[in-house]
Amino acid sequence: MSDLSVELTAPNGKKYTQPTGLFINNEWVASSKGNKITSINPTDESEIASVHAAEPEDVDKAVEAARAAFKGPWRDMPSTERGDLMYKLSQLVEENKEVLATIETWDNGKPYAVALAEDLAEVSGCLKYYAGYADKIHGQVIDTSPAKLAYTIREPVGVCGQIIPWNYPLGMAAWKLGPALACGNTVVMKAAEQTPLSILFFANLIKEAGFPPGVVNILNGHGRIAGAAIAQHPGIDKVAFTGSTATGKEIMKMASATMKNITLETGGKSPLLVFDDADLDQAVKWAHIGIMSNMGQICTATSRILVQEGIYDKFVDEFKKQVKETSKIGDPFSDETFQGPQVTKAQYDRVLSYIEAGKSEGAELAMGGEAYKNVGAGKGFFVSPTVFINVKSTMRVFREEVFGPFVVIVSFKDEEEALEKANDTTYGLGSAVFTKDIVKAHRLARKIEAGMVWINSSQDSDFRIPFGGVKQSGIGRELGEAGLEAYTNKKSVHVNLGTWL
Ligand code: NAI
Ligand code: MG
Repeated sequence: MSDLSVELTAPNGKKYTQPTGLFINNEWVASSKGNKITSINPTDESEIASVHAAEPEDVDKAVEAARAAFKGPWRDMPSTERGDLMYKLSQLVEENKEVLATIETWDNGKPYAVALAEDLAEVSGCLKYYAGYADKIHGQVIDTSPAKLAYTIREPVGVCGQIIPWNYPLGMAAWKLGPALACGNTVVMKAAEQTPLSILFFANLIKEAGFPPGVVNILNGHGRIAGAAIAQHPGIDKVAFTGSTATGKEIMKMASATMKNITLETGGKSPLLVFDDADLDQAVKWAHIGIMSNMGQICTATSRILVQEGIYDKFVDEFKKQVKETSKIGDPFSDETFQGPQVTKAQYDRVLSYIEAGKSEGAELAMGGEAYKNVGAGKGFFVSPTVFINVKSTMRVFREEVFGPFVVIVSFKDEEEALEKANDTTYGLGSAVFTKDIVKAHRLARKIEAGMVWINSSQDSDFRIPFGGVKQSGIGRELGEAGLEAYTNKKSVHVNLGTWL
């Protein structure tokens, strides 16, 4: 065990034991080749710890454990007991939220106050919500004729591979574990290599809650190695993925060999529409949150702001003012900080490259547009919040997901043009409409090609409400009752009560 954990002290002084192994069958084990992933603190570029990286052989072991648990204790456990374990897990998350939020901030760079109040509340809340569903998932009796009794059973899908991203490491784990476990599946989860730490601390809570060995197995590992092994594994019945659209497409291809059930939650370039008749102050504040929170690293970020001509200039001025006043860049452990660093050097470089793309394509830089070097000793992956105006729909900055504190503000003439620009994208995840005209708001809600519409807000996600995309933003839904559908199969049983031959 000694080399499978390390004692750490976080920048906020919090001391804790960081597991570093692979969590298989409720035990910590080393990876078969001993390869490691080193986790970096994006605030000062220092190394935090190295963790074991799974190889395909390790995925095999995790799948074997998950299969044995599925066939054994888990599948036959009374559903209310399953719910009790999930409820216990949600309580343990609540009890350990400070250390979990600390790890999240250290490894990911998100402000600690947000990690604690939002991410961790989401994790315990989501697990609790689905704990309540565990004993309320049932089939139907379907009337046909007196000669037949027909009913359906909602069975778990089996062993689920879950591949999660780095922007909300624990949040995305909870979104995927909640419905999978409530429905009686077992899980092999792979965390993102950029943020491998918090999920390992969470793994200990799974064991502490009393889940039987093998029900939840947690691996770190590289996408192209461990992730690909999961997506292709013949022993895995379903793959659930959150991440980029490009990787989602690869996963679909890999999963096709064994025709796995899939759910994908991928990229976005979500529009936020502001009409002349909107409450401008509210529109500005929500638009700011909609793109600048979590350092712009949100799949549903409203990264294209479309503003009606009559208020365009005023909106741009007010938006810039709001960014200056609110987007305080700094150490994510400081209470003053709104914006921490981008998660990795790769993401930082990516945002900077889109700044160059915007300039070279002729968009007008209204603010930001550079790396920010005034935190601590000048290290870290900080980017000034960036606003481009006079952007054309053909430009890459209008079309491609940047995933940073980076927004384009475009004008439109009327409702028709607003809708045309909003839908002029291969994505369809979030969308927002600001107007005081309720008829117009609901009319647009129907016509926007997106999985979610916020009327007079942005990023108002809720674990009780379905979440997901259309077009190239994904397949299937997470959260809410709808989230259960991806984790059960309906079996139909026909009982002959009188058709005698
Ligand atoms: P990614 O989609 O490559 O990574 C997400 C997860 O997929 C990670 O766990 C990774 O290990 C895994 N993965 C990568 N390649 C895989 C493969 N071939 N087979 C199986 N699993 C694989 O995203 P990345 O490279 O971290 O970020 C690139 C861009 O993706 C971001 O700039 C952003 O635009 C988008 N993204 C979107 C997210 C969302 O919430 N929808 C989250 C993270 C990234
Ligand atoms: Mg990191």
